[in-house]
Amino acid sequence: MTIIPSFSESLDDPGQGSQGTGTVSKSSRDNKPRRLEVLSDKQSRLDQNLELSLRPQILRDYIGQSRLKSIFEMSIAAAKTRSEALDHVLLYGPPGLGKTTLAHVVAHEMGAKIFMTTGPGLERPRDIIGLVHQLEVGDVLFIDEIHRLSRVAEELLYPAMEDFVIDLTSGKGQATRTMRLPLPKFTLIGATTKAGMVSNALRDRFGFVCRLEFYSDEELGMIVRRTASLLGVQVKEEAVKIIALRGRGTPRIANRLVRLVRDFSQYKGISPVDDALAAEALEAYQVDAIGLDPTDRRLLEILIDTYSGGPVGIDTIAATLGEDSDTLEDVYEPFLIQKGFVQRTPRGRVATPIAYKHLNRPIPSMQLNLELT
Ligand SMILES: Nc1ncnc2c1ncn2[C@@H]1O[C@H](COP(=O)(O)OP(=O)(O)O)[C@@H](O)[C@H]1O
Ligand SMILES: [Mg+2]
Repeated sequence: MTIIPSFSESLDDPGQGSQGTGTVSKSSRDNKPRRLEVLSDKQSRLDQNLELSLRPQILRDYIGQSRLKSIFEMSIAAAKTRSEALDHVLLYGPPGLGKTTLAHVVAHEMGAKIFMTTGPGLERPRDIIGLVHQLEVGDVLFIDEIHRLSRVAEELLYPAMEDFVIDLTSGKGQATRTMRLPLPKFTLIGATTKAGMVSNALRDRFGFVCRLEFYSDEELGMIVRRTASLLGVQVKEEAVKIIALRGRGTPRIANRLVRLVRDFSQYKGISPVDDALAAEALEAYQVDAIGLDPTDRRLLEILIDTYSGGPVGIDTIAATLGEDSDTLEDVYEPFLIQKGFVQRTPRGRVATPIAYKHLNRPIPSMQLNLELT
């Protein structure tokens, strides 16, 4: 597989790379403490370097997501037998669950090149044309943040996805001319954290629409073991469990935690890493026993202490927390909901008895009823 990184500036994250690992940085604009980089949804430059070396290349090494993997195993085998491109794929789910990795794995398994870009990177028609004209049969065009495609770009993509043609227009007004160019049969893989913001018209053009799930503790444990061995750090089995439990069901976060534990053990001169050392390292970074960070806990405190457990709207929580509601919805909430701390109701977010217990708050009688039913 060859990787052609185009428009790399839009995949880059200049703001985050300069921050020290695990430090609480201050945003210069509002002077509010920002999310610890360790649990941030953003990819730092350190992550990018690390992720390149840690990314599994083949489906067999891609841990978890077994339902998706079996779909891909079958479809890739079928496409290869027919010497055809794989149908277009839309991957969605919270950051760090392995969407970009899966796109690379699919390209690799197909023996194809992958061209990488992002929704905002395809602002002008010529951005798309410049990209698609390099495609060969079976190649993968990966569009990250596909929900941010401009209307023009999206409309150019429809015939490209459906009929493998692209319409070029030249001239203006009455002199406008359209030319239809054929494209090789390629596979578009789109990724997004916001499936709801992908238009129906675009979504309907994907053969596979796949949701990535949070990883189980066991699956995350396998990722922790793999990363530790690739980084050359010895981690005892009980420490693997501790790291996995705090990895928030998310490989990117689990990998960051392994990196932190490695640094901590080197600093302390202790190897192999045992459970006490792993717990001490992660507590220093304010990640609690089940992977909640200070912002998660603050969110639960606001729900419980300020708004009596809810229901309360996400915008109100966001304003009280000083975070934007998009980040809350895409990054924090999915995990809190999955863990059963928060429920989404038509009237707003509600804290569950599990959240009260986790924060050591007495459970109000109304919530007790909830627990009993
Ligand atoms: N299924 C997996 N098995 C092993 N490692 C994984 C898996 N999914 C993700 N990772 C690791 O987590 C990192 C982040 O995954 P990535 O694909 O960039 O997430 P996303 O694109 O969904 O934000 C990758 O670099 C890779 O090292
Ligand atoms: Mg990605």
